[in-house]
This record gives sequence, structure tokens and C-alpha cells, in this order.
Amino acid sequence: MSKTLIVLSLVLWAGVALCKQYVYNDDANGWLKLHKIPLPWQEAFMTCHFEDAVLASPTNDALHQAILTAVEKADIDFPIYIGTKEMFVYGQYASIEGVQLEDMPVKFYSTNGIKPEACVSLMAEGVVAFTSCTEWLPYICYKKNTTQLKYNHDCGTFDREYHYNAATGSCYKLHKQARTWRIAYKVCTAEGGHLVIINDKTEDEVVVNILKKKPRNLPWELSHTGFFDWNKDLLTFLTIHGEKMDTVYNIWNENQPDNKGVNIYGGILENGKLDEEWDSREAYFVCEKDPKIQLYDQWESCSEGCF
Ligand SMILES: *[C@@H]1O[C@H](CO)[C@@H](O)[C@H](O)[C@H]1NC(C)=O
Repeated sequence: MSKTLIVLSLVLWAGVALCKQYVYNDDANGWLKLHKIPLPWQEAFMTCHFEDAVLASPTNDALHQAILTAVEKADIDFPIYIGTKEMFVYGQYASIEGVQLEDMPVKFYSTNGIKPEACVSLMAEGVVAFTSCTEWLPYICYKKNTTQLKYNHDCGTFDREYHYNAATGSCYKLHKQARTWRIAYKVCTAEGGHLVIINDKTEDEVVVNILKKKPRNLPWELSHTGFFDWNKDLLTFLTIHGEKMDTVYNIWNENQPDNKGVNIYGGILENGKLDEEWDSREAYFVCEKDPKIQLYDQWESCSEGCF
């Protein structure tokens, strides 16, 4: 490759990588990430929560402007949800941070004598409208910059619970809050990683060791990992990245897998062998993150148009 080509592909690569992340806005004193795929309000709230951010509200002029700009740059249609809703009693609309809607620098649409819906969306021109919480809308997560934040350079995130492992080249975080496999999947994605995929014996040992620190509060030992039965037939286990099991670590525990059609979610036992479980069972889990993925643009130069 010529020098120009190398430089060009580096720039392109950086551009692609940067588009996934939180983009800093000086005036808003924090990072914004626009989610184009719509969700109901509560789900949007939880996604931002799992990202260690909040569903953004236009609590001041700078944030209002930053939100509008982000939507325009992303070239998506208004409305989007904001992190503001009716809180517990009629007439009390507040942001997640506790700012009253009436104190925000926004205009309102009239509800023409009808009781306003419980959630709030932002329309073009920055006007807000009362919206049913069950609508599916895009939204923005906002992470405020504070002096307490310390960047985890090894793992490309502010989350200090991710630890780099030199043997595998990945970062890992043990989640000590038991959750269902599907929520664990969501949590890991929100953190910029994925439910751990055990590639080989080395990684299996790494994960077994990490899991030694899990709480002992559950009557079962299985922890979630990143594979499942894509056809509920006990024959179609693939990783969450679609890899065939014979290309990754694949030693099942004795007599496993069993329970066709019910136990479709993958996990690991304390002996390092694989097992599977059903939908509603909560367990501890490990998230894996590629340290090259920088979630926040503070540390890499970020061009315009990241959204
Ligand atoms: C975040 O705040 C800290 C402390 O006020 C500051 O030093 C840092 O530059 C800020 N981050 C960005 C990306 O501006």
C-alpha cells in the first residue's frame, strides 16, 4: 500500500470506529450518543442506564441545542423521547435528574383540554409534546462530565471494572448482579462489549478465574456466556456472533446439552464446561470488551459528523 492509501484507510477506519461512540459537546459539558433504533420510554431509560448515562433531557439551553444538533446530524426524523415524564402525580413532569419540565427552555404544544400523556418527546424546532410512553421513538443518552470520571485507558471506557487480560487481549468485567441471559446480553452491549465468547481453553480458564469472585447467593452455579441455540433444536448452538461451536471452546458438561427447545441460552459451569439454561433464570455473567473500541471521543480526535 502507498503511504497515502495507508493514511486514508486509517482515517476511514477511525471514522467508522468513532461513529459508535459518545461524542463530547463542550457547551453541554458531557457526551451524547444518539440511538436511532426506537424503543418505548422505559426501555430507552434502561438502555441509557446500562450505558452508565441518562436519557437526555433539554434541561438547559446548551443541552437543548446539543440534542437538536445531534438529531439533525444523524438525519433522523423527530420526535425523539426525552428523559422527562410525569413523576408519580398529575402535573409533575420532571427530568431524570429532577429538573422540572416547566423550568426547561422549551416550548410546549397545547393538549387542547385533554390530560397530557405521561411521557415527553422533542419535536422539530425544539418544541416538546406529551407522548404515550408506549410509542417507539429514538432517543439520546447523555453522560455528564464530572471530575470523578477516570478514563480506563486499558479498556477504552470510563468503567473501571473492565480489566485487560494479556493472555487473550480482551477486557472483562464480572457482573455481580444476577440477570436473565437476555438482559445480560443487553447490559454487555450497552457497555460497548458483548456477553463473553469463550474462544479457546486459555479464555475458558481466564473466565473460570474471573467467575471465582462471583457472589454465592444462587442455588445454581451456571453463569451466562455468549452462545445460544439459534433454532431451539439442540443442534444449532452458535455464538452470539454467529460462530460455529467447533471454532470456539466447545466442551460440554456431561449429558449436556439437554432439554430441547427450553434450555436455549448458553452458560459455563465452575469446572469451565458448557451448559445451557432457560429464559427466566437469573445468573451472574462476564462481559467482554475489545480494548480498541473507544466509547468516548475524549481521547481520540473526533471529526464532525460522528453521529
Ligand atoms: C471533563 O472535565 C474535566 C475536569 O473538569 C476536564 O479536565 C476535561 O477536559 C473534561 N473533558 C473533556 C472531554 O472536555
